[in-house]
Amino acid sequence: MISRRTKIVATLGPSSSSEEVLEKMILAGLDVARLNFSHGTPDEHRARATLVREIAARHGRFVALLGDLQGPKIRIAKFRDKRIELKEGDNFRFSVTHPRDAGTQEVVGIDYPDLVKDCRVGDELLLDDGRVVMRVESTTADELHCVVLIGGPLSDHKGINRRGGGLTAPALTAKDKADIKVAAELDLDYLAVSFPRDAADMELARRLRDEAGSSAWLIAKIERAEAVANDESLDALIRASDGVMVARGDLGVEIGDAELVGIQKKIILHSRRHNKVVITATQMMESMIHSPMPTRAEVSDVANAVLDYTDAVMLSAESAAGDYPVEAIAAMARVCVGAEKHPTSTRSGHRLGQSFSRCDESTALAAMYTANHFPGVKAIISLTESGYTPLIMSRIRSSVPIFAFTPYRESQARVALFRGVQTVPFEAAALPAEKVSQTAVDELLKRGVVEPGDWVILTKGDSYHGTGGTNTMKLLHVGDFLS
Ligand code: G6P
Ligand code: MG
Repeated sequence: MISRRTKIVATLGPSSSSEEVLEKMILAGLDVARLNFSHGTPDEHRARATLVREIAARHGRFVALLGDLQGPKIRIAKFRDKRIELKEGDNFRFSVTHPRDAGTQEVVGIDYPDLVKDCRVGDELLLDDGRVVMRVESTTADELHCVVLIGGPLSDHKGINRRGGGLTAPALTAKDKADIKVAAELDLDYLAVSFPRDAADMELARRLRDEAGSSAWLIAKIERAEAVANDESLDALIRASDGVMVARGDLGVEIGDAELVGIQKKIILHSRRHNKVVITATQMMESMIHSPMPTRAEVSDVANAVLDYTDAVMLSAESAAGDYPVEAIAAMARVCVGAEKHPTSTRSGHRLGQSFSRCDESTALAAMYTANHFPGVKAIISLTESGYTPLIMSRIRSSVPIFAFTPYRESQARVALFRGVQTVPFEAAALPAEKVSQTAVDELLKRGVVEPGDWVILTKGDSYHGTGGTNTMKLLHVGDFLS
C-alpha cells in the first residue's frame, strides 16, 4: 500500500481532462481532484468528475472530489485592446460607469460598484495578485482615481485586492449559489468557500448546501486579512467549517508575502487543534507549469508545509493548465515522502496538557498516544461511519498508518484528504460481532501491512451504526485468535 501520508490535491483543467492524463495523475498519487468553478462549464466539471471516479474505481483507489466556488473575487472589466501596459507614476481610474468592454490606458470598468465606497484616499490596490500596485489619490461617487506605484501589464478581468483587506463583498454570489447545486448534483465530497469573512458566511454556505441536498464537507478558504487579524476571528472561522485551505494567493496579497509563512503555520496548527482538516495551496510547484522539474525553493515550500503537518498540498495551474501535470504530482509525492522522514513528522506533543471534550475524541487520541509509544503497533484500524474518528486521530503526528474501515462511498472518498489515513471498504454490521476483529485484521494481512507478531489498534463503538459512538480501543496481537 501507499506509504506517503501527506495528501495531494490537484486542480483539473484543460491539461488534465483526458482519460489518459487523469489515469496517469491518479497512478502518480492524486488523492483529491479539485474542480475550480471559476473556470469551465458544469458539463466540463461533470465529465471530469465522472472520469475521475471511473478511473479510481478501476484501480481500487479512493479519490475525493472538491468543488471550489469562485466567490466574490473583485475583477476589472475588459480593455478595448485586451491589455495595457502601466508605468510607475501613471494616472489610472476605476469606474463604475465606464463601458465594460472598453477599458483604455486611463480607465477601466469594474464589476463591483461597492469598491468605490469601500476605498479611501491612501489605500493601496493590488491587481493581478499584486503584480501591479496603485494608490488611491482621490474618489468621486463612481470612480477611484489612482497613481501607479508598481507598473506592469494589465489585461481583461484581472482581480483587485486592497492591501490590508476589508472589502465588503459578501462571500456567496449568485453564481456560487448555482454552483452549489451543481456540486450537489455531482455528489462532490468537499466544497470550498472563497473569501469567507466570518462564521456567518460559512453558516450560510452550510444552509445552501443542505437545501441543495449535498453532504459535502465545507472548506473555508482563508484568504482575507480579516480572517487572520486575531486568534478569535481565525478560530471562529475554523470552528464553523469542516476544514480550511491556506489560500496563499489572495491572502499573501492582502497581508503581504513576508508574513505568510508564519500565518500558514498558525492556520495549520489551529485547524488541527480544532479537529479540522487543512490544505496548503497556491504556487507550490509554480515553475512546473513550464518545467518538468521543481526548483529547490518549491521543494522547500512543499517540505515546509509537510513539516507544518498540513493534511494536503495543492496544485493549481500546474495541473490545470501546465505542461507537466503528471510530473508535478510525482514530484510532490516524492518531496512529501522525503519530508515525512524528518523526526518532527512522527513525534507529537500535540494537545498534551489540554483537555478533550468528547468521548470519541478521547478514545481516538488515546489510540494515538498508544500507537506512538508502543513500537509494536504497526497499524490502526478505525471503524467509522463518517470518517470523524480517523480525522481526530490524524490530527496527531505519527508514522503509524491509520485505516478507515467504512462501508459508505462518501466516507471512503472523504478520508482521502486526511493525512496518514487510507480507506478499507468494510461492513462491520454484516458480520457476527465475534468475527469483526479477525476479519478486519485479515484485511491488513491480505494487503501486506502487518504480519504475525505485530500489534494493531482497533477502535469502535458499542453498535455498528451511528457517527460519534467510538468508545472502545482494542490492542490486537496479529496471529493470535482474535474475537
Ligand atoms: C462505525 C463503528 C461504530 C462507531 C462508528 C464511529 O459505525 O462500527 O462502532 O461508533 O463507526 O463513526 P464516526 O463517524 O464517529 O467515526
Ligand atoms: Mg483565492
